[in-house]
Amino acid sequence: MKRIRYAVCGLSTRSIYHFVLPLLGKCDNGGANFSDRGEVVGVLDLDEGRVRTFCQKVGVNLPYYGPDDLPRMLAEQRPETVLVAGPDYTHGAHIVGGLRGGCDVITEKTMVVNCREAQEVRRAERESGRRLQVAFNYRYAPLHKRLKRLILDGRVGRITNVEFVYNLDTWHGSSYFYRWNRRRANSGGLNMHKCCHHFDLVNWWLGDVPEELFAYGALNYYGKNGALRPRDVQGRPLDPVEEKRRCPIFQKHYAGKLAPDDNDIRTGWDRFSLPYDAQYPPTQRRYIYDDEIDIEDTYSVVVRYRGGASMSYSFNACTPWEGYILGINGTAGRLQVVHHSNPDPTGLTAPAEAKTRITCFPLFGGQEVIEVPPVAGGHGGADGQIQHDLFVGPSAESRELALPAGSEAGALAVAMGEAVVLSMRNHRPYRMADLLADPPAAMPCGAAARSGDFNESGVCK
Ligand SMILES: NC(=O)c1ccc[n+]([C@@H]2O[C@H](COP(=O)([O-])OP(=O)(O)OC[C@H]3O[C@@H](n4cnc5c(N)ncnc54)[C@H](O)[C@@H]3O)[C@@H](O)[C@H]2O)c1
Repeated sequence: MKRIRYAVCGLSTRSIYHFVLPLLGKCDNGGANFSDRGEVVGVLDLDEGRVRTFCQKVGVNLPYYGPDDLPRMLAEQRPETVLVAGPDYTHGAHIVGGLRGGCDVITEKTMVVNCREAQEVRRAERESGRRLQVAFNYRYAPLHKRLKRLILDGRVGRITNVEFVYNLDTWHGSSYFYRWNRRRANSGGLNMHKCCHHFDLVNWWLGDVPEELFAYGALNYYGKNGALRPRDVQGRPLDPVEEKRRCPIFQKHYAGKLAPDDNDIRTGWDRFSLPYDAQYPPTQRRYIYDDEIDIEDTYSVVVRYRGGASMSYSFNACTPWEGYILGINGTAGRLQVVHHSNPDPTGLTAPAEAKTRITCFPLFGGQEVIEVPPVAGGHGGADGQIQHDLFVGPSAESRELALPAGSEAGALAVAMGEAVVLSMRNHRPYRMADLLADPPAAMPCGAAARSGDFNESGVCK
């Protein structure tokens, strides 16, 4: 069997566990082995020491390339596919470079950090004839696939509106404010970096294209004026070590595990404890109240879809429990989910429930509770299935549910993220057509999810 040659841009935690180890056949935690389907032929990263340490710990020898060396990596290693998984601001150049260099590209979300880059990417894809896939893994979670099926089965009829409340807990939410994500130039803000998952999910569930969006947002908890920032009696900031010691987030999640003067970036996700010295110079102190934080932690957003549905979406990155509350209303009923997740490896947040329930309320008649049992593997079993789609090809289920995402879906989520910031700043709604010269005409959505595919009673034809 022919093995695809993959070049990796960004040896991030995500790329290690999601792309590199599965392709090397080195997942030691039950993850899938795709080494018969592909091989990693080069790694581009800002941090040579990080790449070398990874190779040594895993027992492989991968050619290293510096951040400006994409053309040289393509020329020397002749990959067929480029895997883009560095910080979000690097995606645009790596995707365009890969496509124009004659490769297919797989990118982590968010596809890019602004609409200008989204248009460059779509142009490069058209002109090169190569293909871009966007790894929207959240679609693949068993709960989300089940919701998609219920929608396709017509259980709510034509969707009229969506209520979506998404909250990150104090551990996960705060992590974005000491990592690279805390600068808009790096991540586009959480409106882009994090909300793109949720925007894409709703676009895909509805099988519809967002048309207009209005938003408010603010930085409430973190940053120099953060509500949780400990201060002295005069209200002035404390010295950095004392600030951390007295910080309620540090006390809850790290006290007794990390010293307050420890400047390590430890997310708990990296089993290899790889250095991050180029990205986070060890001498540079970082914490969640730093001046350079220029993104928000709270958003309230309203969206209108082309097919007539609307969504109210709320996001908060500092809440006591993590997860979401979702209601999908339609002409035949309502789907409702309260989903707790627990990303906190410190174990201080209450464990999430093992099963998730979808409650389906027909407009007239009793409710049905549908239990969705957990599936083993990263992101509730989502990672293994999306890896199969990316490295082997879409499964029958993936084709049926339109799970694989391309640049149209990527660009729509980016446009929504950008519209959030523009709307916040300028106090007016933004249309996706104002932001993308070529907004996708339709959202690939699976069998019959469009409103036109429902009969007069609101049931799927
Ligand atoms: N789909 C998901 O569930 C999911 C989850 C986490 C992260 N992600 C995405 O994965 C990507 C990586 O995120 P992460 O938090 O794992 O990253 P990370 O902070 O763990 O790693 C970033 C890597 O990029 C390197 N780097 C920094 N600047 C660079 C540059 N200019 N050129 C090349 N390399 C550079 C760093 O040295 C580091 O190796 C992001 O796009 C993020 O949005 C997706």
